[in-house]
This record gives sequence, C-alpha cells and structure tokens, in this order.
Amino acid sequence: MAAAGAVTADGRARVLADGNEIPLLGLGVWQVPDGRECEDAVRWALEAGYRHVDTAQAYGNEPSVGRALRDSGLAREDVFVTTKFYPGRRDPEAEVQRSLERLGVDVVDLYLIHWPQGGPTWAWEGMQRAHGRGYARSIGVSNFGASDLEAVLEVAEVPPVINQVQFSPFAFRRALLAACDRHGVALEAYSPLGTGRHLGDRRVAGIAERLGRTPAQVLIRWSLQRDLVVLPKSTHRERIEQNAQVFDFELSEEDMGALDGLDRTGGADRALERPWW
Ligand code: A2P
Repeated sequence: MAAAGAVTADGRARVLADGNEIPLLGLGVWQVPDGRECEDAVRWALEAGYRHVDTAQAYGNEPSVGRALRDSGLAREDVFVTTKFYPGRRDPEAEVQRSLERLGVDVVDLYLIHWPQGGPTWAWEGMQRAHGRGYARSIGVSNFGASDLEAVLEVAEVPPVINQVQFSPFAFRRALLAACDRHGVALEAYSPLGTGRHLGDRRVAGIAERLGRTPAQVLIRWSLQRDLVVLPKSTHRERIEQNAQVFDFELSEEDMGALDGLDRTGGADRALERPWW
C-alpha cells in the first residue's frame, strides 16, 4: 500500500492517513437544487471521467446524486461519495443512516462534520460511531480552523483524515494548510474558483491566455499542484468537462508563485473570515 499523502501511480488520487484513496478531482454540488439539474450535472461528470462527488445533508440533493450514480451503471466502488453531517442535528450516526437511504448506497466513502457549530468536538464521538459501524469508510471535518482541528485531534480515537475548506489562490490559507500537513490531514478545496468570482481576475486570465487554457483550469491546476483535493462546482456540461482537463499541463514555479501572491487572507490559519454559524 502507498504511504499516506502519496499520490497514486495514475496521478489521479491521493492516499489518506487511514489508507483509503480519494480522487484528487471531485464535482461539488453545493447550491444545486435536488432534481433534474443535479442529476444531469453528476451524470455528465461521471461521463467525463470524474469519480468523486461531494454532497451534504444541508444541500438537500442527496437523492439526485444517488439516482445519477445508479443510472451511470458504474460500480459503486468506482465512485467516491462524500456527504456531510448537518451540525444543527444531534447524532451523526443517525443522520448518516438517513443519508445512506437518500443516496441509495450502503456506505459513504467520506463523512464530514459540515462546520464546527456548537464547538469543534461534540460531534466527533458520533462520527467515530458512524465509522465504526461501517456507514462511512473515512471521517473528517469541514470549515475547521487550525485550533478547531487540533481540538478534535486531542479527543479523537479515530483521527479526522480530511479538512474541507474554502481554498484558492485568493484564499491561500498557508497556516491552515501547514497545520493539516503536520497532522496528516488532507485538505480539500471548496470554492476553488471563488464561486466564479476569480474567473474574471486579469492575472489569472493572463496566465490562462499564455498557456492556452481557461481561468478555471488554471485555478484548479493550482490546487492540484498545492497537493489539494479540489472540488469545482458547475451545472454546465461543457464546463464540467473543461474542469476535468487539468492533468495534461503544469504551471511553472513562476506562475504558481504569482498565483500564491493573490492571497487575501494573510496566509490565515482560520477556515473562514466570516463564519455563518
Ligand atoms: P455554473 O454552475 O453555472 O456552471 P466554485 O467551484 O468556486 O464554487 O465556482 C462555481 C461557480 O463557477 C459556478 O457559478 C459555476 O457556474 C462557475 N463555473 C464553474 N466552472 C466554470 C468554467 N469552467 N467556466 C466558467 N464558469 C464556471
């Protein structure tokens, strides 16, 4: 088995600290309503070669994700499925069972605490139960700053293997990434395109133009070269396809450095500037 943190031989997945493999590119479906739009997006992504879909109880679209998975004809073990515990509820174990029903699967590959509402540690015992009972192959957290992550690590018998946070060159949270690295926690980037806002940035566009790529591809590639798992969201077929064409080019050290310089967080160890909970 490859060592934790290593990228697999095909360059498409990373080995987590618990030994499970996670595809580096996943489709995010935040804010995609349940129904046709979500089913189409997931179907197109699977047809375009994505093998990783990221949903959440709070998104309300687990049924569509499940339907698209079944309709794809792909084997369950060939697609990595993440969902997240909605921390307005009490029990992660009870809630994951509801997620499994909505998704129509026996197990999720990854189950995350969606955000540290009520404090970072109270839900972890229930996450470990969800893992121990076989409902989730891997467990982790989302929107956890460095101190939240460290608080969980102090109480954990099964440590989190992932922290999913808002991350891009404009939100290059170096100190948080360093904390994750130190603890063997992989970082997943959500909103890697700044929910679309960063696609019009002239510095990103300049690099894209020079390389004959799109701004979205440049931003996604930056995440890959910073050793992140990356979750761009789109509901348009051509964009979903375009966003997957990121394994056939490389950004130079110079371009990576220029993109790093776009950070507006001051290299924060926080997960967000303005938490919503
Ligand atoms: P849409 O879903 O209408 O295609 P993020 O991944 O940072 O959350 O960004 C998602 C936003 O960026 C969505 O509004 C999405 O629009 C848009 N988007 C995603 N991929 C592309 C692309 N390749 N070109 C242009 N816009 C994109």
